[in-house]
Amino acid sequence: MADSTRDLIQKLNAAAAIKFGDDDATRLEMAMAARKLYHKLETNAEKVLRFINEEPVVGGGEKNIDELRAIAKKDIDPELLQHLLQLLASSNIIKETGEDLFQPTNFSLSLGDKRTLLAPALRVRTDHVMRPSIHFPAFLGSLVLQDLPKVIAMAKFTTDKIRAIGHNFFEPQPVKDTGSRVYFFHAVLHDWPDSTVVNILKQVAAAMKPGYSKLLVNDIVLPPVGASIYQAGLDCFMLQISGKERTEAVWNKVISEAGMKIVNIWPDGRGYESLVEAELL
Ligand SMILES: C[S@@+](CC[C@H](N)C(=O)[O-])C[C@H]1O[C@@H](n2cnc3c(N)ncnc32)[C@H](O)[C@@H]1O
Repeated sequence: MADSTRDLIQKLNAAAAIKFGDDDATRLEMAMAARKLYHKLETNAEKVLRFINEEPVVGGGEKNIDELRAIAKKDIDPELLQHLLQLLASSNIIKETGEDLFQPTNFSLSLGDKRTLLAPALRVRTDHVMRPSIHFPAFLGSLVLQDLPKVIAMAKFTTDKIRAIGHNFFEPQPVKDTGSRVYFFHAVLHDWPDSTVVNILKQVAAAMKPGYSKLLVNDIVLPPVGASIYQAGLDCFMLQISGKERTEAVWNKVISEAGMKIVNIWPDGRGYESLVEAELL
């Protein structure tokens, strides 16, 4: 990281300690400047996650209030619509170009663009969007994608390097002749409580080849203190479905109860997820 960037980060962090006294206008001005900077730095994927965890979402279009009202499926009170559009503009989801006049942003347009996958990601309330052509280079050998049969039935591939197999992970692993090199789970185990994760991993352990196979869990590893907003937000979201995000200590516990041991944890360096690497005991 460049020294100037590091300096700026330090200055911004120090700014939290500023006392504004009665000067509320300056405090607000600084808050707005910080907010603008945040929106500039935030990626579309991060924005999706923030909406999921923190804010309500409505898509946008380039219209004035009357035009937007006319294309809405339900009769909307224009005053209410104006309030909502103002809220969306204040969050930089759409842009306010004049009084009661709004235009889309790159992000709101992306929501309507099927190729971006942002809208479905929002709809399923998660960012579990995978594009095999990007994530799996052509040189990779044999890859097996497993999910429940009804999910596999919907899968479409842009490569013949991936074999899709319908499989319930509470049952014995069907690919087990020689033991695979890697068993990879992304954003799967955090959906489940500890005892269930142990059961899922026991099925994996039974198929693994000692000294060769690895378990790679790509999930959040919560720090003991100072979880990021992304980590803490997703943790609360997972709690709603009986899952949770886990600290290293808890990952250690569930993985060892399944007959494996953690050999390394690779953080992504962004305060998001980590790759937990484990082997048979
Ligand atoms: C949160 S999604 C993660 C999907 C994918 N790994 C990703 O990161 O985009 C969890 C996945 O677990 C699958 N799943 C749920 N129960 C399952 C089961 N019993 N056996 C196999 N897969 C299951 C779901 O169908 C879903 O695709």
